[in-house]
Amino acid sequence: MKVLVVGGGGREHALVWKIAQSKNVEKIFCAPGNAGISEIAETIPIKAEDLNSLLNFAIENKIDLTVVGPELPLSLGIVDLFESNGLKIFGPRKISAEIESSKIFAKNFMKKYGIPTANYKTFTCDEINKAENFAKSLNPPIVIKADGLAGGKGVTICESVEDAIKTIDLYLNQKIFGSAGEKIVIEEFLQGEEASVFAITDGEDFITLAPAQDYKRIFDNDMGKNTGGMGSYAPTPLIDEAMFERIKSEIIKPTIEGLKNEGRTYKGCLYCGLMITKDGPKVLEFNCRFGDPETQVVLPLLDGDIIEMFYRAIDGGVKNFNYSIKKATAICVILASSGYPDSYEIGKEIYGLEEVKNMSDVILFHAGTKKVNGKILTSGGRVIGVTAIGPENDFESTIKKVYTAVEKIKFDGMHYRTDIGKKAINYIKNKTLLLE
Ligand code: AMP
Ligand code: GLY
Repeated sequence: MKVLVVGGGGREHALVWKIAQSKNVEKIFCAPGNAGISEIAETIPIKAEDLNSLLNFAIENKIDLTVVGPELPLSLGIVDLFESNGLKIFGPRKISAEIESSKIFAKNFMKKYGIPTANYKTFTCDEINKAENFAKSLNPPIVIKADGLAGGKGVTICESVEDAIKTIDLYLNQKIFGSAGEKIVIEEFLQGEEASVFAITDGEDFITLAPAQDYKRIFDNDMGKNTGGMGSYAPTPLIDEAMFERIKSEIIKPTIEGLKNEGRTYKGCLYCGLMITKDGPKVLEFNCRFGDPETQVVLPLLDGDIIEMFYRAIDGGVKNFNYSIKKATAICVILASSGYPDSYEIGKEIYGLEEVKNMSDVILFHAGTKKVNGKILTSGGRVIGVTAIGPENDFESTIKKVYTAVEKIKFDGMHYRTDIGKKAINYIKNKTLLLE
């Protein structure tokens, strides 16, 4: 069979890598892909949001299955378009993808179905005074979120009421996020530890993959700006069996049932961005897709045929997917360009990749890379993810392995965090840290 993967980051490289292991796959295309992906798939110069060109490509090349990585094509309705042309595609329809593309929809939905999340109110640009008064009634920190997709930058944590009032002005009056920020959510700050859980659903039932943790800030010890994600690991000891059961019964199950009840039956990967608090798990956000860089640790731990998983999500019967989660530890460290998440230079040659490729239990997932005259050059903010696999619960040795690999790679201005995976060691040491 022929498979098309849409997107060109580290997440998509991990998807292509896993799909390539499926016995029925003869050929993989990836649009637009990157230098790493081009070693195992044919890359096609079509942007992920160019839905009509993707459709034409899929029809002309008799693609059997399309798998969508990023949120933008999903929120633009790529699944609706492909389905209406009789093509099989993994992901939610536009109306279901709103769980990510409208934070107001997601919050109101959670309230209606009793899904635990931070208390909130929503405001439009005609309600600046009301928004300010609500902010004044809260104890800082105060969380302000743009309603629409804002490239991961739409959330501001305000340390004071004055800060919140300035932020309300930036969003609703100065419209720094354009139409995505014309409506906002203001919500209480949740104290706890963050985790990401992926549920694969056919709209009725679901299965879960290894629970992961993402490191969003640019510098060690969670300092500096928010990024797309600077590293990840799985499974996180933060989510033990009892906590996982709560997440399934209090969050995932009612979300899938609620979406069906709303006429928004959800098929695909439901990404639950969670805060594990003293009062239990609460939803920070839902995403309508796999996470990046969590996919780079979750898929190496999946023992099962991912193509079967995709088909079961599309056609039903996901519960009967024959899989297990490997008894191992996976850690991914992102190598970024100097300056990221702000402006950065590209076109720097990357050295050391061949040596790392020969290491066992280490996988390179490219993100912003490009092949020019046989050389691999940087072409984005997040450049490469290095994933290492180690023994179950052994974070010390897996951390050593991943950083041994990381240190072999070099490019001008390369930046990475040196503390990825360390939180897991603390969670294991302080088992009662959160829920005492
Ligand atoms: P989101 O895009 O909604 O996941 O928000 C981005 C990041 O902001 C999250 O990963 C959290 O670190 C932080 N955040 C969002 N909402 C809250 C909240 N209510 N309380 C504390 N931190 C939050
Ligand atoms: N790792 C965060 C995200 O994919 O949204």
